Amino acid sequence: MNDLTLKIPGFLQTSPWVNIFYLLAAVLFIVGLKGLAHPRTAVRGNLIGALGMLIAIVTALVGEHILQPWVIVAGLIVGSAIGAVLALKIQMTGMPQLVALFNGFGGLASLLVAGAEIGTKGSFASTQMTVSTAAAGLIGAVTFWGSLVAFAKLQGLISEKPLLFKGRHLLNIALGLVVILLGIWLVAKPDLVVVYWLLVVVSSVLGVFLVTPIGGADMPVVIALLNSYSGLAATATGFVLDNTVLIISGSLVGASGIILTKIMCKAMNRSLANVFFGVLGPQEDGPSADDVYAGKIKSTSAEEVAMLFDSARRVVFVPGYGMAVAQAQHAVRDLANLLEEKGITVEYAIHPVAGRMPGHMNVLLAEANVPYDKLKEMDEINPFFEQTDVAIVIGANDVVNPEARNNPQSPIAGMPILDVDKARTTVVIKRSLSPGFAGIPNPLFAQDNTLMLFGDGRAMILELIRAVKEG
Ligand code: TAP
Repeated sequence: MNDLTLKIPGFLQTSPWVNIFYLLAAVLFIVGLKGLAHPRTAVRGNLIGALGMLIAIVTALVGEHILQPWVIVAGLIVGSAIGAVLALKIQMTGMPQLVALFNGFGGLASLLVAGAEIGTKGSFASTQMTVSTAAAGLIGAVTFWGSLVAFAKLQGLISEKPLLFKGRHLLNIALGLVVILLGIWLVAKPDLVVVYWLLVVVSSVLGVFLVTPIGGADMPVVIALLNSYSGLAATATGFVLDNTVLIISGSLVGASGIILTKIMCKAMNRSLANVFFGVLGPQEDGPSADDVYAGKIKSTSAEEVAMLFDSARRVVFVPGYGMAVAQAQHAVRDLANLLEEKGITVEYAIHPVAGRMPGHMNVLLAEANVPYDKLKEMDEINPFFEQTDVAIVIGANDVVNPEARNNPQSPIAGMPILDVDKARTTVVIKRSLSPGFAGIPNPLFAQDNTLMLFGDGRAMILELIRAVKEG
């Protein structure tokens, strides 16, 4: 016992109480997760989950490791301050990077705790402990380094392009085999802590090589998967420490991360193997922007669009990544209010992978106080585009690209899209004819019923508000 520890003789030292508090925390996690499933209950769900985590942490620190209370309070203050500063400073468009870092730190914490524990137990470690330690070291290191690479790619610190070299699959298989051999060695000789750290080093190299060949475009899926890994690493560390709440919370993170990964892959019509081993990008022999656009683009003005609203009864906003970049959500809400005052029905069409993270558009529009019942999911709104007078596409591109439906050779073939091309008139607000995430031209922009309103998303919506008011 060093001077940071304190023997607490009270009830918390008796294991039934520790387990009761752990059970309470686990129940709160599950109720919290359930709440997160709907926007209306999401904030409450988040708070319930956070309360569960507070109970779990304090119980673990006070009840099991008997740390001095001031160390716990100091840790909580430092951790909360870092979390609050990060959450306030980070832009909504930078959220995937932040999540990547959080996952990475989760993996790092798991591998450090497992390493410290095996160092203490040495040859007294049970087989359960050594196997779990090896798993925590492997998954924790892959998660940490993989997440750092994902962060660096999305933050622009390193190139977003896939780093491909011949024999990379063989190298990864070889690294994986070395890790397995080191794991077996650790189980046989648990007192050789150096074997554990060797395993961590090789797993770190594996983590880097697993993520560098994946392009920036697929990073959000990789981050969701690494999120799942961080949960598995925590579960493994839970078995190392024999800590029930860590096993439960790690499993919840592991399962929810993998479900999210699956939902994202499905919405992009791609398999996980394709994300990991395929390369997303324009196809070599695909149509060029000139083929698709030359002589067919009709650009419009705010005044012309305002005139369209005069005879419209139903307007649908279709937000995408560009709305997030332009931070146009408040202006969009103001324009929608103005149109509703004129008796027009206004709705929002939400594609599951619009933007750069799951629920990206829902979060932005909720921040602008757009009522939830006006947000319509793809399957719900698609049948109604034919009866829509004006569809306003703001900063969306891939999620409204008819190539997904019409061209089986397209890199986005089969991805379900919002059928805005079927609206009576479609107005697309973006700054240029640049492609979206998938890097391919969009024939929607060249369609007869499409008008392009070129400019920054927010500036153009403000122009539209002015034009509607003046008209
Ligand atoms: P994108 O296809 O990426 O298109 C965004 C468009 O926004 C660009 O064409 C860009 O054109 C425009 N833009 C950028 N800044 C703007 C600004 N300030 N004002 C107005 N427009 C601006 O976006 P999307 O339609 O939302 O599709 C999302 C893509 O991300 C899909 O391919 C999806 O598979 C992928 N993805 C999504 C996720 C999740 S979970 N959401 C995860 C992984 C991948 P200009 O430069 O011409 O303005």
